[in-house]
Amino acid sequence: MSLWNKHEIFEKHSLILVIGILIVVSIGGLVEIAPLFYLKSTIEKVEGMRPYTPLELAGRNIYIREGCYLCHSQMVRPMRDELERYGHFSLAAESMYDHPFQWGSKRTGPDLARVGGKYSDEWHRDHLADPRSVVPESIMPGYPFLLEAKVETRGIGDHLKANRAVGVPYDDAQVSEAASDMIAQASPDSAAVDAFLERYPNAIVRDFDGDPSKVTEMDALVAYLQMLGTLVDFSIYDNKANLR
Ligand code: HEC
Repeated sequence: MSLWNKHEIFEKHSLILVIGILIVVSIGGLVEIAPLFYLKSTIEKVEGMRPYTPLELAGRNIYIREGCYLCHSQMVRPMRDELERYGHFSLAAESMYDHPFQWGSKRTGPDLARVGGKYSDEWHRDHLADPRSVVPESIMPGYPFLLEAKVETRGIGDHLKANRAVGVPYDDAQVSEAASDMIAQASPDSAAVDAFLERYPNAIVRDFDGDPSKVTEMDALVAYLQMLGTLVDFSIYDNKANLR
């Protein structure tokens, strides 16, 4: 009983109370935070995740440059309505190579985390150039200039290097061949395709914008969109089980 009376000390002296609070909070903090320093990674490894190809990375940069993230999120939350509309909820590993991540905070348009493979390349090209040509009620702005703008290969190697500096595992060949890989992914007939596929085994090689004469920003953006959400094979998971 006498021990409980000692509580008075804390109630009467605010400084002692503050010190007491600090001690209790730091024990809680240590218990939660300290173990994280001994883990190699806080993100569970998932099969299929690979660093973005140079063309996809360029597409991602265009996505950021044009502010697509202001209207589109890239994260499916684990709630029934989202699972039924978009598919399996997003895993931490799916954005492990995103610097910065594109989760977004606003959905004027739909979530894009699983848009890869949902439409054809032609649909994306028409939709990005003039959204109302395929979705009459759309309020999305058009980006027709992407069809004309040649994709910038200069500096892409440095861009891969910068990503490597923050933990994306690009190897030396991927960095030194970045510019040629970028063009190869959108040029199915090019001799550089085999070397590209050796460096990025499960990447898609296609003429994404339907214009074989040049590799454009449209190629890059469509390559990026068609890859989103396709790297992890979710057919091995039971999606229905998540709905319960
Ligand atoms: C002003 C808001 C806004 C901006 C900015 C915007 N979008 Fe959209 N987006 C929409 C809306 C609304 C829709 C739904 C109607 C439609 O399909 O056009 C949409 C639909 C889409 C779809 C089809 C998604 C699906 O599952 O049907 C894709 C892909 C897309 N946008 C990509 C982009 C890209 C890439 C950019 C940047 C270049 C972009 N959007 C910029 C509003 C926007």
